[in-house]
Amino acid sequence: MAKASKHDSAQVKELLLQALETERGGIQIYTAAIEAAVNDDLKEEWQEYLDETRTHEQVLTRLFEQLGLDTEEQSPGRAVVAHQGKSLVAAIQMAMKRATAEAAELVAAECVVLAETKDHQNWELIGHVAEHSSGDTAKLLKAAFEAVEQDEDHHLYHTKGWCRELWIRSLGFPAVLPPPEEVKKVETAIGASRAEQQRERML
Ligand SMILES: [Fe+2]
Repeated sequence: MAKASKHDSAQVKELLLQALETERGGIQIYTAAIEAAVNDDLKEEWQEYLDETRTHEQVLTRLFEQLGLDTEEQSPGRAVVAHQGKSLVAAIQMAMKRATAEAAELVAAECVVLAETKDHQNWELIGHVAEHSSGDTAKLLKAAFEAVEQDEDHHLYHTKGWCRELWIRSLGFPAVLPPPEEVKKVETAIGASRAEQQRERML
């Protein structure tokens, strides 16, 4: 298989518009989630992720400049991402208003996982384009991907771990807090799966 093939520039731009909107939504979601967090370690973790998400937004803004793209260009796909982001913030606020603090914290964790699933996929796709095409665009995408990818692994896999353990505790069972994914500094899907399998031994 040829390593370098020609990418669809219009769809790569669409991916970048969605990625930027995802990071902007992420800033709002973390801001709401931090307010909803009860566990101090989780609050601290999300504060760190909020700072990193701000950095990702800047990495993308810089990439748009380098590629000569408009950061404010709209698209139907971008509008959907913006809608999803606002909905997740609204969901956290709804829970904070109506539910117990512990229940609102669970909602916030689920909302972060949903947002980070999209964010993680965006960056994996940016990495895919970088790896499978050549030229200046590929180089710029690769540099942005390398600056961000490890953060995105933490954001998704570690928050998934928090979400699962907080749910398990709420059901009346012993939980591993902070979650195994965080203790073991998980950075891959395989690592996350291993950490989850070892949780019983970490109780
Ligand atoms: Fe991000």
